[in-house]
Amino acid sequence: MKVLTVALVLVVAAAVILRWRRPAWYWLAFGAAFAIGRVLVNYTSVMDACRLTVPPSRWRLALARIANRPVPESRAPRILRLRPTRTGLVLRLKLRPGQDAFDVSAATDRLRHSFAMYGVTSRELRSGVVEVRMTGYDVLKRVHMPARTDPAPMRVPVALREDGSVHYRDYRAVPHGLILGATESGKSVFQRNLVVGLAPLDVALVGIDCKQGVELFPLARRFSALADNPDAALDLLEALVIHMGDVYQLIRAEQRITVNVPDAEIASDIWDLPDHLRPVPIVVLVDEVAELALFASKDEEKRRDRIITALVRLAQLGRAAGIYLEICGQRFGSELGKGITMLRAQLTGRTAHRVNDESSANMAFGDIAPDAVLAAIQIPTEAPGIAVTGDSSGGWARIRAPHTSLRQAVNICNRYADRTPDVPALAPFRPVVGSLVPASEPLAKTAPVTA
Ligand SMILES: Nc1ncnc2c1ncn2[C@@H]1O[C@H](COP(=O)(O)OP(=O)(O)O)[C@@H](O)[C@H]1O
Ligand SMILES: [Mg+2]
Repeated sequence: MKVLTVALVLVVAAAVILRWRRPAWYWLAFGAAFAIGRVLVNYTSVMDACRLTVPPSRWRLALARIANRPVPESRAPRILRLRPTRTGLVLRLKLRPGQDAFDVSAATDRLRHSFAMYGVTSRELRSGVVEVRMTGYDVLKRVHMPARTDPAPMRVPVALREDGSVHYRDYRAVPHGLILGATESGKSVFQRNLVVGLAPLDVALVGIDCKQGVELFPLARRFSALADNPDAALDLLEALVIHMGDVYQLIRAEQRITVNVPDAEIASDIWDLPDHLRPVPIVVLVDEVAELALFASKDEEKRRDRIITALVRLAQLGRAAGIYLEICGQRFGSELGKGITMLRAQLTGRTAHRVNDESSANMAFGDIAPDAVLAAIQIPTEAPGIAVTGDSSGGWARIRAPHTSLRQAVNICNRYADRTPDVPALAPFRPVVGSLVPASEPLAKTAPVTA
């Protein structure tokens, strides 16, 4: 008896400590089982209280009357599946006649309180079937990416969504992206996660970091081209435009269209080319775009116009040539001059970190998902890295990237340094690793590139 009591006390103490210090482990050890019990036991009454039941149908009423039975009760959606996950529960519901997916999404906050979960979201899977995803704890507080993610070409897991699922950056589905956010809101960490995700893939990375290269130059060994000032950026972007032209020539040469070529075999982008001919895809990362768009003199203005023109051309035509843009900035509106809104219109993947005013959030979401604007403004200052991400379909979600330190990113880039492809057009911009930080500088001790 005594042993049993001690064991019980130990288990309760472990549960309390886990819940406090390691909510993810608590969830796997205890939380999931408790939550499943709670959902199954209270299901019907909660659905009733949340007004998600429908009155009995006419034939059930008629049957009851004929059989002289009591009037049947209202019925809740049928549970098709209840599955625990690493972060919560997934409930699949078959709606009753007369219910719609909006009824469930409107009741998510009530469900959250009733089932004592941290967050509840819902989405329609197909007509009549709705998936309710619940999280057991705040998954964005300390982000742990799952060890296993769904691999696909040109698709990298970058962050965790609020509902516990993985947020991917899929370059083939959404070629160009815009990352907005006030200073210190987590843009560069997000971009670093992208680099870490892309490093093991067959892709050339190109970086433009006019903050003297502090964010991207330490990762130089995995980059095929880098620029740390607007002059170099201009040359680099113009070289990319020329490279894009060459790729189109190659695609054109491969098309060999004659009347007997079936439609499906005509190549129209690099992914249709045979493997041995396909040029390596290029991801261009631009940190702090305002540095490229602002100018103080006439000469700088000319340079700026050429830079923006090159960016717009890459954004408009780059996708088929396998050139993808990822642009970071604090603001991205018309005050940065002409061509900026045209460029923004091409950047489909929008991610906004904390912003200071509504107009900045509008630059990301005003034209695609107006309710995401509010969500972006509400991101608290003390949670850098939390962001709202949307796409042109109007959907949006809160996400947070894992806090990858520069050191970790450097190690990963160095590990995959041999995967850095040589793109002939970009050869003049290839960073010379080793000469980035002079050996005599005291910084050399911590300079990651020499590690
Ligand atoms: N996903 C994250 N999780 C935890 N902390 C983060 C995250 N992203 C950023 N931070 C913190 O915020 C600080 C600023 O991030 P940074 O990416 O440099 O901001 P920005 O580039 O927007 O100015 C970082 O030093 C880091 O400590
Ligand atoms: Mg930054």
